[in-house]
Amino acid sequence: MNSILQVNDLRVYFDTPRAIVKAVDGVTFDIKTGERFGLIGESGSGKSTIALAIMRLVRAPGRIESGEILLDGENLLTLSDQEMRRRRLNKVAMVTQGAMNSLNPVIRIRKQFADGLESHGVNLSNEEMGERLADLLARVGLKPNVANMYPHELSGGMKQRVCMAFAISLRPSLIIADEPTSALDVVVQRQVMQTLRQVQEDLGSAVILIGHDMGLMAQFASRVGVMYAGKMVEEGPVRQMFNRPEHPYTRLLMESLPSLEEKEALVGGKGSPPSAADRPRGCVFHPRCPYVMDHCIDVEPVYRQVHPNQFAACHLHDPEVVSKAVALSPVEEARK
Ligand SMILES: Nc1ncnc2c1ncn2[C@@H]1O[C@H](COP(=O)(O)OP(=O)(O)OP(=O)(O)O)[C@@H](O)[C@H]1O
Ligand SMILES: [Mg+2]
Repeated sequence: MNSILQVNDLRVYFDTPRAIVKAVDGVTFDIKTGERFGLIGESGSGKSTIALAIMRLVRAPGRIESGEILLDGENLLTLSDQEMRRRRLNKVAMVTQGAMNSLNPVIRIRKQFADGLESHGVNLSNEEMGERLADLLARVGLKPNVANMYPHELSGGMKQRVCMAFAISLRPSLIIADEPTSALDVVVQRQVMQTLRQVQEDLGSAVILIGHDMGLMAQFASRVGVMYAGKMVEEGPVRQMFNRPEHPYTRLLMESLPSLEEKEALVGGKGSPPSAADRPRGCVFHPRCPYVMDHCIDVEPVYRQVHPNQFAACHLHDPEVVSKAVALSPVEEARK
């Protein structure tokens, strides 16, 4: 199967007064045409920054330090701003948690779509616009009369669907959904996720779903990637990886509790992820790893294949390191 997206050694840094924050620090992955890929990892691990980099919407003090983002073989990082503007919506679109707030509350949905499409060079007659909009609204489970409404007349779930309709209006080959349902209540969340799934199947677009909810992720994605402290630490087919996680961080995520938030609390306290400005040497996860070895403190693990289609960055998968390892308990490590 062909790749629609290839991200190669992407680095996105934020220049802050105190330090250079390496929000994304050498991430490589690819997405096949029409694939549903999930991106998980705790708060601050760099998931949204990857999404923004793909959209070329990283704002100062952030910058794309290096790497390649190939969409359908074309490196987005070398396009002019104008060329990139044309790719957005046409080739790659994004729906975020806050998307609904980007709708102008005092302008009817129909007018906002017409303006949005016009800015992408799509000029339709009133009648064509009506038809196009009715079709798009139907695809996301909304009635055609929503076109004549103002955003303030719609519920949060309906507004998110409108944003999804806009995102698919030019049939992009990649849709990035960054926690698209996390501002909604649980029942509406499930419905909106089903809609995203339906839309994805209808259009055949690839989707990157970013989220915290492992249940939603397992239902939606066929493959997942796990981010930790600016790095991809594991990726693989969803079922295979949930059954047999190979990175200690993923293993902690997969243990019994249903939500990532609860797991984070268990792993190390939600308020204490590693500071992005001061990342540990060696393996970024070593200060919190139950299996830490002395090697992990100094040497960064390589990202290697551990099972068919499953990759992990952990020294436990390097037989040479393990054979020479001096295992340290987390307590001993903390004393060092
Ligand atoms: N404007 C900014 N200035 C400085 N640092 C930033 C800025 N925006 C993001 N960062 C840094 O980038 C890192 C990654 O942030 P990002 O929003 O990508 O995380 P995330 O994985 O999407 O988290 P969440 O699950 O909370 O949405 C953070 O640790 C943060 O320190
Ligand atoms: Mg985010």
